[in-house]
Amino acid sequence: MTLLTRTLGRTGFDASILGYGAMELRGAPHGREIADADAGTILNAVLDAGINVIDTSIDYGRSEELIGRFVSARRDEYFLASKCGCPLDPDPSWPQPYPHDYTPGNVRAGVDQSLRRLQTDHLDLLQVHMSPTRERLEAEQTVEAMLALRDEGKIRFLGISGTLPNLVDHLAMGVFDAFQIPYSALQREHDELITQAAAVGAGTLIRGGAARGAPAEDKGWSVSPIGMRADESERRWRESTVEELLDGMSRIEFVLRFTLSHPDLHTTIVGTANPAHLRSNVEIAAKGPLPADLYAEAKRRIDSVGRVGGYGSPPPTAP
Ligand SMILES: NC(=O)c1ccc[n+]([C@@H]2O[C@H](COP(=O)([O-])OP(=O)(O)OC[C@H]3O[C@@H](n4cnc5c(N)ncnc54)[C@H](OP(=O)(O)O)[C@@H]3O)[C@@H](O)[C@H]2O)c1
Repeated sequence: MTLLTRTLGRTGFDASILGYGAMELRGAPHGREIADADAGTILNAVLDAGINVIDTSIDYGRSEELIGRFVSARRDEYFLASKCGCPLDPDPSWPQPYPHDYTPGNVRAGVDQSLRRLQTDHLDLLQVHMSPTRERLEAEQTVEAMLALRDEGKIRFLGISGTLPNLVDHLAMGVFDAFQIPYSALQREHDELITQAAAVGAGTLIRGGAARGAPAEDKGWSVSPIGMRADESERRWRESTVEELLDGMSRIEFVLRFTLSHPDLHTTIVGTANPAHLRSNVEIAAKGPLPADLYAEAKRRIDSVGRVGGYGSPPPTAP
């Protein structure tokens, strides 16, 4: 089974359209417990399946450490993306989201810590975490700090995890090589901004592309995409009547292939701690985008119940 690849914008990297989001390896108290051996099994299975993009963060508990421990020996097989601005050693009892600090001292100390934990000498992509305002990024001289780290070879490309409303300004800054953006059939408000990011030559990493598994039969709407209430995602799904379009597909196949159908997606970093889900996601991704007529009809039905999925108003159409 071969995964399709797409060029991750100006990074030039040939990314598998299915990437891996390593947040599920964070462990308690903010995530599920995962045994070290199970984390090693899933990380190696990710690479064995041909997935070549891994996204992590200082904020994801033990995720960076587990990647370093179990797959740093295979470092040349994956494009490694982490984040900056996160507190270095948060008290796990703090509520999330943790307060962030985008000043050069914290950005630099964070990268040095990530490199140690990930057992590597460089990150392929350093992404500003949590979508701060342009004003804050400028006041805290975050981009200058990232450029210095790039000049030193500690990172290769600059990115940001951005959402509405600040993502519009992030694009206008013209400094980021890649954007991490939430998007799925249940959260379509960043649709045009993904296209705008690709149009300026940046790479697009889509998060939430499996809608957190919410529509999957085994989840039964017990979870929700980040930023949405579970009953809201289930209501939107039901009222859109997209279920009528499945034609034998599972809901998760439909949702993942819907995400992959976005013409300007380069990779979607789906998270899972479950090897069976990983296998299933790889099989689904190998089928590629939905047929064009089905995709068009699905968008029409979903948009008939509104585009807002938790991140504010739909974006302006002009960049
Ligand atoms: N602000 C940020 O920058 C930010 C925020 C959130 C996430 N992220 C990144 O994006 C990645 C993905 O984001 P996400 O977790 O919000 O969204 P996601 O990838 O859509 O959802 C992941 C969830 O979906 C479930 N899942 C995956 N495949 C499944 C399947 N076939 N059947 C049933 N359930 C399935 C997983 O549970 P199982 O373990 O049960 O499979 C997991 O809990 C994260 O890992 C992280 O790297 C970044």
